Amino acid sequence: MMKVAINTGGGDAPGLNAAIRAATLAALKRGWEVLGIKNGYGSLYTDEPFIKLDAQSVKGITLQGGTILGTANRGNPFEMPYQKDDGSWDTKDVSDHLVQTFKEHEVDALIAIGGDGSMNIASRLIRKGINIVGVPKTIDNDIYGCDISLGFDTAIDIATGAIDRITTTAESHQRLMVVEVMGRYAGWIALYAGIAASADVVLIPEIPFSYDSIEEKIKERESNGQKYTMIVVAEGAREKDGELVTKGKAVGQEVQLGGIADRLAKELSERTGKESRSVVLGHLQRGGSPSTYDRLISLRFGAAAIRCVQERDFNKLVVLQNNKLTRIPITSIEGKMKSVSLESDTVQTARDIGICLGD
Ligand code: F6P
Repeated sequence: MMKVAINTGGGDAPGLNAAIRAATLAALKRGWEVLGIKNGYGSLYTDEPFIKLDAQSVKGITLQGGTILGTANRGNPFEMPYQKDDGSWDTKDVSDHLVQTFKEHEVDALIAIGGDGSMNIASRLIRKGINIVGVPKTIDNDIYGCDISLGFDTAIDIATGAIDRITTTAESHQRLMVVEVMGRYAGWIALYAGIAASADVVLIPEIPFSYDSIEEKIKERESNGQKYTMIVVAEGAREKDGELVTKGKAVGQEVQLGGIADRLAKELSERTGKESRSVVLGHLQRGGSPSTYDRLISLRFGAAAIRCVQERDFNKLVVLQNNKLTRIPITSIEGKMKSVSLESDTVQTARDIGICLGD
């Protein structure tokens, strides 16, 4: 008889509920007890940090977006935000309290469903003696050692559909359209959705761009009679020798990226004399029902995590590598991220079909 706790941390992603359901059902099948951590690690400092998960509580949730447990990106137990007496905010390390809560509730293992930030936290908790199995989740697809994370497929599907729609209005109005997609410091969403939606320019953090290169592409299209240009930009893309465009940083949170599309639209309009508009897809990319692929991979990850616990194979992240489910040590990916490889066939494909990558 084991008792497992499930946590969903960081930004939500389509497929989280499917992973929760599979992990819960696989654990119940073994006669174990399952607790869900409410709203990320931050709730471990409240009177009721857990909800008991049973077959009824996970019924019908595979197709639901979000997470039934709730999540928080201000839930790092090593840097938990708190308000000081003078009203200002600071952070403190409350990880020992988390360890104590797990002991008091006799939790044998934690299923940590999260992205790189959650896996960095998991590495530190492992060193404090917590038994953890990780499940890779992020629409950004930037978790090291992991071919695909749950949520990415749905996000690129939504982004592709949105770019398709924006393309028809760009063409009607003969405009420059700049669509900003998420992805933090990696260009997976921009590259995959940009290629799939036949964008003319795709800008990713891995390839700092020059305005001259984009302007040249727009002019080349004009001279071929194509009076509109569709530009897809990752939120983390930046000009050569330029800075990231950000919206500030709250205490205990990551810096918020955003605003590059607007900047590009203005600058390119000035350079070319063409009318431009910018669109930020934002959280649309994370909301709603998961794709079939995400449902399936999330169910596979969730069930695989429980098999890991059963074998007491802790400190492992269940991952897909070369189309096979396998496990890698969570601590081996601490502080690392997976960027787009410039030698990949996907980048080559973009170049071969005439997409300008801004370099
Ligand atoms: O990591 C997922 C992600 O959606 C990023 O692509 C984006 O930069 C960030 O989260 C947005 O976070 P928030 O929900 O705090 O605005």
